[in-house]
Amino acid sequence: MSKKASIGVTGLAVMGRNLARNLARHGHTVALHNRSEERTRALVDQFGDEGDFIPAYSAQEFVDALERPRQVVIMVKAGAPTDAVIDEFAPLLEPGDVIVDAGNAHFADTRRREAALREQGLHFVGTGVSGGEEGALHGPSIMPGGSPESYQSLGPLFEDISAKVDGSPCCTHVGADGAGHFVKMVHNGIEYADMQLIAESFDLLRGAAGYSPAEIAEVFRTWNTGRLDSYLIEITADVLAHVDASTGKPFVDIVADQAEQKGTGRWTVQIGLDLGVPISGIAEAVFARSLSGSSELRSAARDLGGPTRAPLADVSGFADKVEQALYASKVVAYAQGFNQIQAGGAEYGWDIDLGRVAAIWRGGCIIRAKFLNDITSAYEAEPGLPTLLTSGGFRKAVEEAQDAWRSVISTAVSLGIPTPGFSTALAYYDGLRADRLPAALVQGQRDFFGAHTYRRVDREGSFHTAWAEPGRPEVSA
Ligand code: 6PG
Repeated sequence: MSKKASIGVTGLAVMGRNLARNLARHGHTVALHNRSEERTRALVDQFGDEGDFIPAYSAQEFVDALERPRQVVIMVKAGAPTDAVIDEFAPLLEPGDVIVDAGNAHFADTRRREAALREQGLHFVGTGVSGGEEGALHGPSIMPGGSPESYQSLGPLFEDISAKVDGSPCCTHVGADGAGHFVKMVHNGIEYADMQLIAESFDLLRGAAGYSPAEIAEVFRTWNTGRLDSYLIEITADVLAHVDASTGKPFVDIVADQAEQKGTGRWTVQIGLDLGVPISGIAEAVFARSLSGSSELRSAARDLGGPTRAPLADVSGFADKVEQALYASKVVAYAQGFNQIQAGGAEYGWDIDLGRVAAIWRGGCIIRAKFLNDITSAYEAEPGLPTLLTSGGFRKAVEEAQDAWRSVISTAVSLGIPTPGFSTALAYYDGLRADRLPAALVQGQRDFFGAHTYRRVDREGSFHTAWAEPGRPEVSA
């Protein structure tokens, strides 16, 4: 009897190809399939010596090549292409087999697919995979959802190929059905927020301190040796230091200032709204990308009045202040993202271990950072932590950073440098710590125009004031 594969990958564009190679390099026999045969042949021709591959040129041949329970990893575009591949393979599989969607699917689609395939006795595992092409090949962060049974067979393989930090795999069973894709979605939202905050830091160092991109690259390199040590800070320094070969200008100056997005950040915000979780850092990052891309609007409004950017007379200590503002804003953005995961868990019945999520993001993924160790410790010390901001270490660090944080935002405001990420983070922080919020007035307005009622601070119950009547009497509602 010919040897069978322990796992198969269908969809061999770069992410699928690299995941398949990673599995084979770890000694697993991998069945390969792609809609067009060329990709399958090319993988075997170019990388066949990296491990054991079983190329298959039809869906049936692919399924037959797999040992049971069969584990089929789908790596195609999210949306209709994923449904098409599921429809092709599901009829060929048997109860107990596992279909894994490793693309960036919307978690609601994953929940729908999981429920439908469960009816057929199949396990459907929506899995977040982060780390881009390189991560897929050398060790990504992997966030599988789906049934605990499916993780028994799949877990060891995924843990094997994932990134490792301090010897621990950056892979864990996140929770049932769509939990993996939900967590990956929030990961991407946090990625947007982190990138926006870094971009604002750059803009401030250039606009308010007058530093060149090369000088700012050095500032980021220094920051990368401290508490901000992370992949995003590291690559930012490289991008800023890069010089365009054809013009000799800093690379960052020859790139159009219109940030694009594939949609996962937008989903995070949409779901944040549905769950009623204020993820303002992620939202501002998504909106900042939208504003950057609104070219007609920007050209129509370019001559609006306001301050012109001019470097400060004294820039000593300014970079350090920006570091503090960046750190504090970053803590807020992550605190909001983790609260969203908590709320998603409560809504959909997932038992998500937030400390474990932070731990599997320490390696392989785009937001990998030293700082995630502190998040894991915070949740380990207090599993029911209401927000990262109240945990001992973060509380102290943010309190200490706040003078610099406020001063940097004031500078940005006075020079007309937009810092939506920094500003919304501080507003959130101040909102949380406020004794009284003006929401009381909003309730009064709602009651005035719509009889929407309000609660009082001194008595139980709902009340309405008859605003149109003489004396405006209050009645219990
Ligand atoms: C990752 C990335 C990956 C991808 C994003 C980029 O974790 O590997 O998040 O998923 O780079 O989709 O998203 P945008 O195109 O929306 O910036």
